[in-house]
Amino acid sequence: MADQQKLTASIIIISETASADPSTDKCIPTLQKVFTSLGASKWEITATKIIPDDVTKIQNAVLQSCAEGVNLIVTSGGTGFAVKDVTPEAVGPLIQKQAPGLVHGMLAASLEVTPFAVMSRPVAGVRDGSLILTLPGSPKGAKENLEAVFKLLGHACLQAQGGDSRNMHKGGVEKLEKEAGVSAKGGEKKVGGGHSHSHGHGHGGHGCGHNYGPGHGGHQGPKAHTAPEERPQQSNDPAQGPSRRYRQSPYPMLTVKDALHKIAEHTPSPTIIKLPVNESLVGHVLAEDVTAQESVPAFRASIVDGYAVIAGSDAPSTKGVFPVSMISHAQAGEHQELQKGQIARITTGAPLPPGATSVVMVEDTILVSKTDDGNEEKEVEILTDEIEVGENVREVGSDVQSGDVIMQKGEGISAIGGEFGLLASVGVKEVSVYKKPIVGVLSTGDEIVNHDREGDLKRGEVRDTNRPTLLTAIRGSGFEAVDLGIVSDKPGALEQTLRDATRRVDVMITSGGVSMGELDLLKPTLERQLGGSIHFGRVAMKPGKPTTFATIPVKSNSGERIDKVVFSLPGNPASCVVTYHLFVLPSLHQMAGVEPRGCARVKVQLDGDVRLDRQRDEFHRAVVKAGGDGLLHALSTGGQRSSRIGSFKGANALLCLPAGEGSIKKGEMVDALLMGKLVGDV
Ligand SMILES: *[C@@H]1O[C@H](CO)[C@@H](O)[C@H](O)[C@H]1NC(C)=O
Repeated sequence: MADQQKLTASIIIISETASADPSTDKCIPTLQKVFTSLGASKWEITATKIIPDDVTKIQNAVLQSCAEGVNLIVTSGGTGFAVKDVTPEAVGPLIQKQAPGLVHGMLAASLEVTPFAVMSRPVAGVRDGSLILTLPGSPKGAKENLEAVFKLLGHACLQAQGGDSRNMHKGGVEKLEKEAGVSAKGGEKKVGGGHSHSHGHGHGGHGCGHNYGPGHGGHQGPKAHTAPEERPQQSNDPAQGPSRRYRQSPYPMLTVKDALHKIAEHTPSPTIIKLPVNESLVGHVLAEDVTAQESVPAFRASIVDGYAVIAGSDAPSTKGVFPVSMISHAQAGEHQELQKGQIARITTGAPLPPGATSVVMVEDTILVSKTDDGNEEKEVEILTDEIEVGENVREVGSDVQSGDVIMQKGEGISAIGGEFGLLASVGVKEVSVYKKPIVGVLSTGDEIVNHDREGDLKRGEVRDTNRPTLLTAIRGSGFEAVDLGIVSDKPGALEQTLRDATRRVDVMITSGGVSMGELDLLKPTLERQLGGSIHFGRVAMKPGKPTTFATIPVKSNSGERIDKVVFSLPGNPASCVVTYHLFVLPSLHQMAGVEPRGCARVKVQLDGDVRLDRQRDEFHRAVVKAGGDGLLHALSTGGQRSSRIGSFKGANALLCLPAGEGSIKKGEMVDALLMGKLVGDV
């Protein structure tokens, strides 16, 4: 540059929200970072301002900066198509020399990121020696736009200010490019990744960081690029009343895959507890290896009915007639030692008397005489001399040795019974397992009444189907469910219920109250009253788009910080069941140490055509049966309108259908998630 004097810039944020509450602004720091990282030595930011979307105020702010003689004025916000977006209308008339090339450069850079760039209406140009640029309102979009042209601005500003153009251009374009750190070959031209973004070139004006586009661009689902902690609180502030609430959900639309990642990331790790080995152990997963406390069998036992004998080289022949000196049934107690020349009657599973080496099967013997009362055997003849030491004897520990690892960490105790039986057989009284989360379910809405309330519904009342449906689904998947009831729409009620619930349960599921309805209090309550973080609020899927996942930090009894998990599921039962199986179950499994998590994914053959949704991946209720041909067959349960609980009757699976045109034909294979038991088809 011609001299060492720094170029000056002012940043003007145009946003209703941020002007009301400057703490919500994320644009200023983002833009300041662009200046410091790309041009710290050349630039100095002399002023930052936050003003509302108002033509006069915007013009005054820009004119003031011009009057102060700054080299560069960047505005952010108000460049979309919303009614209140007026930045181009305010700034446009002030420009004396248009700079369409800069506009083109910014749009081209954004277009590489999202097709919604065409929804931005930037202007750029010079007034009184100051270069003015209007950037979009989202921090991400503003940053991308500024970065796209930033390295060229120094030169432009100097010229605009009246720098000696001949002198500046002396080295030719190549020298200029070198000074600016750019090249025509594209070394610097591209900023930001090539993947899809969802920042809102579409509608500035909800304040920085709120400007997420309509968010269904392209095939690859849109993706959030900020972590929740980087975002201002996004929920509506109920105190502001309906006229101030968002016209469009401020939450980025996540793909199902990304939503599942978020859930996995924010679900608390399992806690380890000790539990007695009793029936309530079923469904738990071991957190430590289990070793046998005892050997099985714990004593030498006969595996046949017959006679315990002394055999072997130093014993007399086993062939001959012997007195039956004692009887060993399968029962506890001490036995006398068996003496040479004696035999003992023994039943299967009974302990061998001390001294006995083997058991002769009853088939190899005949009764010779009975006791006087005729009730007992007195003498028995053994017909064979070929009995070996250890014959028909189960040795101590031949099944399990004391100290053997009989089950490993990560193995589950199923309801089928095998594992429980094993633990029970070796004297294990207590095991370390992952604590199964307790799940609370509540419904929200003044219109909701208990499903079994007596009497006809009044106008506008709705029976609560979601809560009983979810309670059933939770218990059906082996978790304890707590009914938290119906919460009224009054702000305090929801907060109190959730606060109480954090002490009783690990996971809260609410349904209703997740749409953009005027009384949607859940998100603001979570964020504003409970200090929670909303990790996602929209998912690109059908049904279940408004599915919301949040965590609330609480102090445990031992004083450490733990997160309670909140799922807010869509306000109708069919969507509730789908999203429970898709999103909640994997989280419960994760907390309980169950692997793999969630419903089993299987390939099924369609027994009928299924139409695809053009825009969203769909989870389509179906009945999956095991066919006689060894394949799993799926039949749709019909109309999938998200309020149709009837379409769930009999459904045990969700077909995973990609968004697309037309339908998938009968006979084709698709993925399905099994929610319940397979049914046979005979
Ligand atoms: C089984 O153990 C649990 C603790 O995990 C206890 O609450 C329950 O009462 C026990 N059940 C029986 C039948 O002993």
